[in-house]
Amino acid sequence: MRTDSYSRLPGVETGSRPAPRATAPGAAVPVVPAAPAVIEVERIRHAFGRHAVVKGLSFAVGRGHIACLLGPSGCGKTTVLRAIAGFEPLQDGRIVLDGQTVSSSGTLLAPEQRRIGMVFQDYALFPHLDVAANVGFGLTRASRAERAARVDEVLRLVGLDGAGRQYPHELSGGQQQRVALARALAPRPELLLLDEPFSNLDVDLRERLSLEVRAILKAQRTTAILVTHDQHEAFAMADEIGVMHDGVIEQWGSAHDLYHRPASRFVAGFIGQGVLMAGRLRAAGEIELELGLLRPAVPLDLPAGAAVEVLVRPDDIIHDDASPMRAEVVHKAFRGAEILYTLRLASGGRVLALVPSHHNHAVGERIGIRVEIEDVVAFAA
Ligand SMILES: Nc1ncnc2c1ncn2[C@@H]1O[C@H](COP(=O)(O)OP(=O)(O)OP(=O)(O)O)[C@@H](O)[C@H]1O
Ligand SMILES: [Mg+2]
Repeated sequence: MRTDSYSRLPGVETGSRPAPRATAPGAAVPVVPAAPAVIEVERIRHAFGRHAVVKGLSFAVGRGHIACLLGPSGCGKTTVLRAIAGFEPLQDGRIVLDGQTVSSSGTLLAPEQRRIGMVFQDYALFPHLDVAANVGFGLTRASRAERAARVDEVLRLVGLDGAGRQYPHELSGGQQQRVALARALAPRPELLLLDEPFSNLDVDLRERLSLEVRAILKAQRTTAILVTHDQHEAFAMADEIGVMHDGVIEQWGSAHDLYHRPASRFVAGFIGQGVLMAGRLRAAGEIELELGLLRPAVPLDLPAGAAVEVLVRPDDIIHDDASPMRAEVVHKAFRGAEILYTLRLASGGRVLALVPSHHNHAVGERIGIRVEIEDVVAFAA
């Protein structure tokens, strides 16, 4: 167990949000981005009629960073991107792009004046224009020669050199999405917005393209905001991720932080898999669980005897034939290199265990397990 393990953030168990803390692992919002901010979103609010969708949301993205807003369907991700692009007015808060306030309750700079590029799920290419004309569409101020040179350049960048004379319907979904990316990058935007750009593609292509697009954006030092509900896409592409829930950002951090140090039950449940196991705090500060004693290095701010719940991930449970602790296999899911076992403990409680797949046990078998948790994440029950 690590010694700098994590303790409960105040307020989480009541459903209220933890206070933003710039230095804390799993801080709720990024108070100061690592590089000078290209985009600052400050306590923005947006409602459709009486339906409040964005409820005081804040974040900032440093130059050259790829950020991601990750959250379930309907939580307001597209609305935030549309507000940044200038398609939705704000009721409150402000959006600052490269030092200029582009949106506030009294300001709405037109989308075409924002130097923002956009890529959407449905590619949105003009079907009657060939690839070169699609890509060159936003280069209105360039001469014919400059435009042709830039179109060639960005098509080469996205791996489509030579495709300029083809029409969108002659291309695969993945190729069309590359054209959409080339079109968005051609005018050298200050900020690129990507709204679920890979969700129309099959899983293999989605993963490959998200890594490729990341490499392209990094090579161009493009600042980007991706929105998705797919955590694997977020992990593959983004430097930093904000988990959105009910119109606010519940936690901002790296994929590693979100997985290992979730700041709320929502984040713990939304990112990765796991169970919350009931335990009790002992006078010495350890947590007594059916799986044994766990010690959070930062003491929990709760009285001895308090009921708590501890997050137990599938990778926290180690299969060990020599361990005296036994659990019964109730379900197994083959994952290739690993098998995800659902195990029943003596009390009837269940845990998940990710075990190398050469350890192939049958449902009903009792196997030895031990627990190895690096970051003990606990919430007041
Ligand atoms: N033009 C609109 N008029 C009224 N309500 C809207 C409008 N656009 C979005 N909403 C509502 O706002 C909420 C947030 O929608 P939004 O599209 O921002 O969600 P999302 O997080 O992008 O979801 P998804 O993952 O499904 O794309 C939803 O409840 C939606 O019904
Ligand atoms: Mg959306």
